[in-house]
Amino acid sequence: MANEKQREFWSGKGGDNWVEHQASMDHMLGPLGERALNKLGPIAGENILDIGCGTGATTLAIADRVGTAGSVSGADISKPMLTLAQQRAKGAGLANVAFQNVDIQDHAFETECFDAAFSRFGVMFFEKPVDAFTNVFTSLVSGGRLAFVCWQSPAKNPWQSLAAHTLSSLVEMPPPAPEGGPGPFAFQESDYVCDILSSAGFAAVELSNHEQTLEMYPGMALPETIEAYMSINPALRAMIADMPEGKRTNIVDALVDAFRPYHSDRGLVLESATSVVIARKSAD
Ligand SMILES: C[S@@+](CC[C@H](N)C(=O)[O-])C[C@H]1O[C@@H](n2cnc3c(N)ncnc32)[C@H](O)[C@@H]1O
Repeated sequence: MANEKQREFWSGKGGDNWVEHQASMDHMLGPLGERALNKLGPIAGENILDIGCGTGATTLAIADRVGTAGSVSGADISKPMLTLAQQRAKGAGLANVAFQNVDIQDHAFETECFDAAFSRFGVMFFEKPVDAFTNVFTSLVSGGRLAFVCWQSPAKNPWQSLAAHTLSSLVEMPPPAPEGGPGPFAFQESDYVCDILSSAGFAAVELSNHEQTLEMYPGMALPETIEAYMSINPALRAMIADMPEGKRTNIVDALVDAFRPYHSDRGLVLESATSVVIARKSAD
């Protein structure tokens, strides 16, 4: 089955850890998602797809913007993350929100059922990205918009590269992921993103750069922060999965030392670089 590893990760420990740290993740990613959502510009009454909606923060934000005359559909491969998203929507008393547990790259949405599609870091995990975006394209009305935010390269995101650099002196690093392979940095090359979206049928593809300071895990002690960081990072999780306890302890200690200069009451405070991508289904 396609995307098996991603399904296992997001519906297994990776998803559970994200649920556990939902408040911290939303604190860290909130400003980046809001910026991308402003680019999409949801309008009252629109029906919008939230791709890889996870625990639902952006789905709820979109529901607020489209109002009761509109609706938002959160789609995600992860059962535990969607369960929390559903609870949050119920808790907020929102009637214009629905969630579906689907793999975007396999799912045939109803044709032309959404005015727009959005994602906060939920589109980089497809094995077949052109298939996934073709499904999104089909689901959009003529003239429909797409907007998402994705990470630029690890080198521009020290919250990732600092860990990789620290680990490289302690363990044999896995070979770099093939270009475009599923993972947080799959969309680091703008030409690759443009190619995928064009192949899926989208027009008027535009990327804009954004650099912003991130606050990760505010209010947590540093060793606890490093454990949380390791649990949620797919590459790190894979590397430490079968490691003897002593070696794992060495790694945690080294990461604590490396990240200490960036730790304060605000959490780990590090720079980030993202792209906001917008595209359109031509109305011709
Ligand atoms: C980095 S998380 C972002 C979650 C959420 N958008 C947020 O910002 O909190 C990536 C999300 O994409 C989802 N995802 C990964 N591959 C997917 C696929 N093929 N179809 C649907 N969702 C997928 C994961 O389950 C996860 O919820």
